[in-house]
Amino acid sequence: MNPRWFRYGALACLITISILAQNQPQNPAPAAPQTTPQWAYALNPPATPGAPPAAPADASQKHVPGSTVALTIPQTRDLFNPPDWYPDDHPSMPDVVAHGRRPDVRACGYCHLPNGQGRPENASLAGLPAGYIAQQMADYKNGLRKSSEPRMGPPSTMLAIGKAANDAEVKAAAEYFASIKPKPWIKVMETKMVPKTHVSGWMFVETEGADKGMEPIGSRIIEMPVDLERTELRDSKSSFIAYAPIGSIKKGEALVTTGGAGKTIKCSICHGADLKGIGNVPSISGRSPSYIARQLYDIQNGNRNGPWTQLMKEAVSKLTVDDMVAITAYLASRNP
Ligand code: HEC
Ligand code: HEC
Repeated sequence: MNPRWFRYGALACLITISILAQNQPQNPAPAAPQTTPQWAYALNPPATPGAPPAAPADASQKHVPGSTVALTIPQTRDLFNPPDWYPDDHPSMPDVVAHGRRPDVRACGYCHLPNGQGRPENASLAGLPAGYIAQQMADYKNGLRKSSEPRMGPPSTMLAIGKAANDAEVKAAAEYFASIKPKPWIKVMETKMVPKTHVSGWMFVETEGADKGMEPIGSRIIEMPVDLERTELRDSKSSFIAYAPIGSIKKGEALVTTGGAGKTIKCSICHGADLKGIGNVPSISGRSPSYIARQLYDIQNGNRNGPWTQLMKEAVSKLTVDDMVAITAYLASRNP
């Protein structure tokens, strides 16, 4: 073909495409189906186009039990000055935990809570070894730790925080969280049926109204706030419940304590006899089952790939998602 005609043809084609594109209704591209386990990687539903704007936030003062602090809802949502309902419940926070640094280093205490207890969509940090925390921050910075589900907002934000935090901030935050003793935070309950749930704020919450009801749990762990209202106010003393399939704790215990005849490796070899960590190896006991499941899956899929992660490769290589349900049910049922 004459190259000039080809150029005109290509140009005409581009113009047509852009006119057509402009005339298309602004439908978002259809979302790719989720391939990561939905119960572990809670994805907010996509925003409905044309939905009415959210009602203005309630400006009244809120309280939580056992605290003299009063805060408005907008004050509880400030990522650079997070709510601290119980200032006497934890050591004095370094600036990076209490306030962070604009624009990218959001305050650690916002997501992980001032006492480091964490929530299902992030991670508990209380009592983790300072050396381990620093290594994870280095892995985020060096692109060696990512989420298998980039559409899940909080892990993506953590990645940006890891890239932006400096050495002094990492050191202060690591020493702070390492100094706190973790408290029991998750109650595991085996059950056949669970309340129907949907995802709101990257977390499973019970569905109310016309669709309220029960459904079979299947092979899932459903981790939910015990008291949604307190959790939404980011009350760092309001805990979580994790529903698990009948028999999963026992099945998980067998895998964790014996290695399941070659399926995995006895976790206590590296995580300590009580699974609460040794040296710089982290605790895996009494922590969020959704968080722990994401880590097993991320390590298995090569998305967590730091220098110390290599020690975990053999333990996860043959696990199925059902094994992860059992292992995380057992681990979460133990004391932290
Ligand atoms: C916007 C919420 C948010 C903020 C703010 C935040 N994190 Fe995180 N962090 C997360 C999430 C989410 C994860 C878990 C990601 C996942 O599921 O893999 C995480 C994981 C971590 C981990 C890994 C824990 C483990 O057991 O391996 C460390 C360490 C950590 N954060 C440290 C920090 C520090 C230090 C700060 C403050 C400088 C901070 N985070 C601020 C959301 C946050
Ligand atoms: C050979 C040593 C070794 C064995 C065996 C081992 N782990 Fe680990 N595990 C580690 C190390 C080291 C890390 C830290 C990895 C990193 O820095 O990325 C880790 C990290 C983890 C994490 C991530 C924790 C966090 O805070 O994000 C989980 C979950 C975990 N291990 C679960 C298990 C389970 C379950 C078993 C047994 C089935 C097991 N591990 C067996 C060495 C081991």
